[in-house]
Amino acid sequence: MPDVSTEAARRRTFAIISHPDAGKTTLTEKLLLFGGAIQMAGSVKSRKTSRHATSDWMALEKERGISVTSSVMQFPYEGRIVNLLDTPGHADFGEDTYRVLTAVDSALMVIDVAKGVEERTIKLMEVCRMRDTPIMTFINKLDREGKDPIDLLDEVESVLGIQCAPVTWPIGMGQRLKGVVHLVTGEVHLYEQGRNFTRQDSTIFPSLDAPGLEQKIGGEMLANLREELELVQGASHPFDKQAYLDGKQTPVFFGSGVNNFGVQPLLDFFVEHAPSPRPRATTGRDVAPQEDKLTGFVFKIQANMDPQHRDRVAFMRVCSGRFSAGMKAFHVRSGKEVKLANALTFMASDREIAAEAWPGDVIGIHNHGTISIGDTFTEGEALGFTGIPNFAPELFRRARLRDPLKLKQLQKGLAQLSEEGATQFFRPLMSNDLVLGAVGVLQFDVVAYRLKDEYGVDAIFEPVQVATARWVKCEDEKKLEEFRDKHALNLAIDAAGELVYLAPTRVNLQLAEERSPAIRFMATREHA
Ligand code: G4P
Repeated sequence: MPDVSTEAARRRTFAIISHPDAGKTTLTEKLLLFGGAIQMAGSVKSRKTSRHATSDWMALEKERGISVTSSVMQFPYEGRIVNLLDTPGHADFGEDTYRVLTAVDSALMVIDVAKGVEERTIKLMEVCRMRDTPIMTFINKLDREGKDPIDLLDEVESVLGIQCAPVTWPIGMGQRLKGVVHLVTGEVHLYEQGRNFTRQDSTIFPSLDAPGLEQKIGGEMLANLREELELVQGASHPFDKQAYLDGKQTPVFFGSGVNNFGVQPLLDFFVEHAPSPRPRATTGRDVAPQEDKLTGFVFKIQANMDPQHRDRVAFMRVCSGRFSAGMKAFHVRSGKEVKLANALTFMASDREIAAEAWPGDVIGIHNHGTISIGDTFTEGEALGFTGIPNFAPELFRRARLRDPLKLKQLQKGLAQLSEEGATQFFRPLMSNDLVLGAVGVLQFDVVAYRLKDEYGVDAIFEPVQVATARWVKCEDEKKLEEFRDKHALNLAIDAAGELVYLAPTRVNLQLAEERSPAIRFMATREHA
């Protein structure tokens, strides 16, 4: 009989963070290959497209060459169960990515050897730092000329503010690439094009002194490497597991995703050292993964994954206990028991009906809009997992209907689409406007497309005089009432029924804050 402690301990739940084009998709595909999830190094991208090809709004995603959705892939490796949560790649979808990162226990950062630390990596790293998420680093595209490896480590340390502990080190680069040396085991993995698939298919020397190695990589290269390694050892940090788990140090690997080179040393090290699920904070107490009662929270909502059914899937990260198919769970926000029938697991081969799931796993719950991002499920205890915020949007548009008779559908569509979390929907107190807020401008196109496709509503989004939004709170009812009367023109209600100040300019917001010291203006709202 599997028990919750053992099952939790063998889970590794993580996400890959990178700047677009660094090689996230390629690496994902190779990791799945090691997990035996796909037979051939086929393309994850094309698999994705064919699976969603029938869903129309995905066409938009294809057109733009971006990934709007994020999915979950699970595969077994070396006695562990690895859950890889895909993060949307486009810069517009920061908020969505943020929430995915709240659902993982660690992250893998992919850096292009020629480009070094890029802008989006910096942003994602900031997010990881908020939760001290442990991070491993893969420096990719070693088959091409790139920056000097020592300079790259320097760059990571100074720009990202995290110590580097190289675990593998490159022998040459680009045309001169000969392999990597593993600084912990001492092994030398040779780079041979068309091979390097698995350990069995690689040429591995036990150490730099092994007979035959010099012949393979050349005496001069070997001498240079020894010199360089001395320098590296002086200039970098040895791997320190605690520092890694605390998010203060990142183990660094070098390789080439597309050639599947250097990937297995990374995966081996990852399953051994990356953290299994850890205790999580709730409104009441910390919940330990080993507890036998099921708890979990929803970090993502996605509609129309299956074009046959126009329902939505809530992605729930299991935090403790055991989920089994058909069990009942307590939906804390509504106070209702919900039967978790037909929940999905996400084996990389395809989505499957979940028989059971354990801490670290993700299950997909079908629903018709009753479940929201941030919702907690338990077996009866009134807990709420914390730390899954809504961010104040930075861009605003007013929805205008081409056919005024479709107002009802428009309202419904905007409300439902905003439940997925990528956009937010506001109804001003004093007008009939419907204002949509988003973090990225592309979201308005996505919403317009989906309104038409899924709700039959032809709407356009036009500029509106709103610069920023703040949730307003005040413990003193009377003061809040006064504020409401005085600023009714700038106030709105969001989809959750919360009061929001829509500031026409930043200066206006500043003045309002100064003039109403009793009111708290908040840039994020925690999902309650
Ligand atoms: P992303 O998901 O982070 O955006 O990156 P993706 O894996 O799609 O990789 C971006 C490009 O980099 C792809 O080329 C991919 O083949 C290439 N690439 C990935 N890993 C390596 C590597 O180790 N070495 C080299 N030289 N290239 C690599 P593309 O031309 O955009 O697409 P494709 O037509 O090759 O698929």
